[in-house]
Amino acid sequence: MSAKDKNFVWGVSTSAYQIEGAVAQDGRGPSIWDLRGKIPGKIGDGSNGEVACDHYHRWQEDLALAKKLGVSAYRFSIAWPRLLPEGRGAPNQKGLDFYDRLIDAQLAMAIEPWLCLYHWDLPQALHDRGGWTNRDCAGWFADFAALAAKRYGDRVKRFITFNEFSVFTLFGYAIDWAAPGITDRQAHLKAIHHVNLAHGAGVDVLRALVPKVSIGAIHNRQIVLPEGDKEENREAAALLDEHWNLAFPDPQILGHYPPRLAQAIEPYVQAGDLARICRPIDWFGLNHYGPIFARRDPDPKSTWGFGWGDAPPDSPTHGVGWAVFPDAFRAELVEIARRYKLPIYITENGCGGGDDAPDRQGRVKDAHRIRYLTLYNKAMRQAMKEGADVRGYFLWSLLDAFEWGSGLGPRFGLVHVDFKTLKRTPKDSFAWYAKLIQNDRRQSKRR
Ligand code: FCB
Repeated sequence: MSAKDKNFVWGVSTSAYQIEGAVAQDGRGPSIWDLRGKIPGKIGDGSNGEVACDHYHRWQEDLALAKKLGVSAYRFSIAWPRLLPEGRGAPNQKGLDFYDRLIDAQLAMAIEPWLCLYHWDLPQALHDRGGWTNRDCAGWFADFAALAAKRYGDRVKRFITFNEFSVFTLFGYAIDWAAPGITDRQAHLKAIHHVNLAHGAGVDVLRALVPKVSIGAIHNRQIVLPEGDKEENREAAALLDEHWNLAFPDPQILGHYPPRLAQAIEPYVQAGDLARICRPIDWFGLNHYGPIFARRDPDPKSTWGFGWGDAPPDSPTHGVGWAVFPDAFRAELVEIARRYKLPIYITENGCGGGDDAPDRQGRVKDAHRIRYLTLYNKAMRQAMKEGADVRGYFLWSLLDAFEWGSGLGPRFGLVHVDFKTLKRTPKDSFAWYAKLIQNDRRQSKRR
């Protein structure tokens, strides 16, 4: 178990594919998201991640912004296809060097690097061999984890195996909202199980290779409510809850799949698999934005018979239309603490808005984001009073970025990025977050 952080960890999160760009530079191989970006209609605004924030070239400017913000930790991901262009085999020296520079610069700024191995950018070469539907993918992931552990483990102690297991498997293999865009029940079940195996294998590799490592995995958890509180939507909500909230943390931490899923996945589970998946980890990473609503989907083409429903018409929402329910965040934190009995780091929480833009004076007034963050921080404090062992909070995100299927429209950053000129402009929320961190540090010194 990791030593309790002396101070609450305040951080920001990003991910490689969403900010780096430079997808064909310095030997990087293609990822499944590069291909998706080329298929008409798959990205809402017709954009792609080829340039994104051009962080690959502007990383120094971006880290300087993180430093100015005053965070003590930076959560980022490394791109598997930058390290291993074919997904396995010979590593790409220039890719390895890039993250060396990024890590060294963070350490020089007294920012602790929190390294996530997988934030959705599977090398296309592995997808061509079946990707997550192929059981061998767990081994390919373990080899990639070993490469990263050996190279960076002398300086990085915080490792994360995966970001949001259920989002990329459900949207990538059952619903076609994410790469690789498959809609098939059996492919989805295989992907769930193989990703769980990959997590377990990754934990073992990290534990063996990185002295004093602290390992976590990041789960999205959002309470799932039946749309309109209707009886006909209750079974859909229960099934979606298993897929969304339980399919990964339950086997990884409790050693079993939730009941409905356990039955469906059985054909793919071999003797000893649950012991391979359920490996000791040090903390629970939570990504949370708001509750979700489920409805029955009678379309025979629907993979699971559930679909995304609407929030009650009078619910408060933020710019991207997601429901704002801070009390669901509080309840989620308390429930995670009860169910999994691990320290919790909030690894993503934030607010998307489409119309953040600099005014004539160059100021980005994002009062809506400050309102959201204030409410969610209050809810977090309340959960801590109620016993949830929350040890840190990483805001999503440092920069406006490429938001997957929605493209460059939804802006989640504390820093505005003009995607034409790539100019960075800190928003009002940047100063707000900097102040919150400063005040908290001052108070904890007095405690
Ligand atoms: C999460 C993802 C992250 C970002 C935010 C808005 O689901 O982990 O990459 O897209 O949503």
